Amino acid sequence: PRVAIVFGGRSSEHAVSCATAAGVLRAIDRSRYDVVPIGIARDGQWVLAADDPSRFELTPGRTPEVETSDAHVVLPLSTRETSLTVLEPGRPPQELGQVDVVFPLLHGPFGEDGTLQGFLELSDVRYVGSGVLASAAGMDKHYMKVVFAGHGLPVGPYAVITDRAWRTDRAAAMDTCAGLAYPLFVKPARAGSSMGITRVDDPSGLEAAIEVAREHDPKVLVEEGIAGREIECAVLEGHGTSAPRTSEVAEIVVHDNHAFYDFEAKYLAESDVDLSCPADVPEEVAKEVRRLAAEAFESLGCEGLARVDCFVTPEGRVVLNEINTMPGFTPHSMYPRMWAATGLRYPDLIDELIALALE
Ligand code: DAL
Ligand code: MG
Repeated sequence: PRVAIVFGGRSSEHAVSCATAAGVLRAIDRSRYDVVPIGIARDGQWVLAADDPSRFELTPGRTPEVETSDAHVVLPLSTRETSLTVLEPGRPPQELGQVDVVFPLLHGPFGEDGTLQGFLELSDVRYVGSGVLASAAGMDKHYMKVVFAGHGLPVGPYAVITDRAWRTDRAAAMDTCAGLAYPLFVKPARAGSSMGITRVDDPSGLEAAIEVAREHDPKVLVEEGIAGREIECAVLEGHGTSAPRTSEVAEIVVHDNHAFYDFEAKYLAESDVDLSCPADVPEEVAKEVRRLAAEAFESLGCEGLARVDCFVTPEGRVVLNEINTMPGFTPHSMYPRMWAATGLRYPDLIDELIALALE
């Protein structure tokens, strides 16, 4: 099959997406797939990207980026005969031909949030991962919790500060957080990779933290910090009518110099985070995490893949933190590592996801 790997994008997770694409470009089985790498520059331009993983790796001191070019890649909004074309001023259009499936390796708004998925639906082209609604709800930490809670799944206490509430009366908006116990985590509703998140230890820090989150999204979520261990689980859609599959669960241990699992701990300072998989938790806790992960996946109607992040309290209670419909997907990222620990290697995981999209 011909696979378009789409990466980069307009969100603040552009560089993370490039790193994910580097991993997939390196590992995808070239004897089975004809790969068309398509980058989306930060300004939204689609370009034919270099098929060179080393260009897109994320390392300390180097932030990979899709560069704009005079040559645009166009995906026409047509049916079935969807064929990619490169348009360059002063040159005849260059046909890239049809693709069988798009693999959107995009994180954050305009990629993971249903907008790209809607565009691909209009173009009638198949793609890896969740559809419009699951992507949109999975991106928005507020609606994600509404759906989880509506399905009777356990979520922690939180407050939502809308743009209107904030601009109308800040004090009143902050009052809606009065019932939450500190520390609080203040988060943009629609962002990822810990961008714009602040841990707040007392009320004096709340206003500034909300302003920081608002730089990423006018809607802000204030969550009560849940004391406990961070345990994650990878979910993979089942074939045909079979139930979603869940991986061994993993634990993230963040060292003291990071207040939480922040961007730097995630991508730049590997040694500051330990990932243990399978996590050293009692069998019934692991079972409960896997059960909730599969239910979270189904409650949103996810397809393909998702990583579900939970907290496990000292009493052994499991609370859902969030779902990511396009989790970090480099070979060192949690999602592929959890599958590797479960017996599914990275190149085989890529095959599985493409096969599910083509089913
Ligand atoms: N948003 C990042 C990529 C993650 O969830 O892994
Ligand atoms: Mg997320």
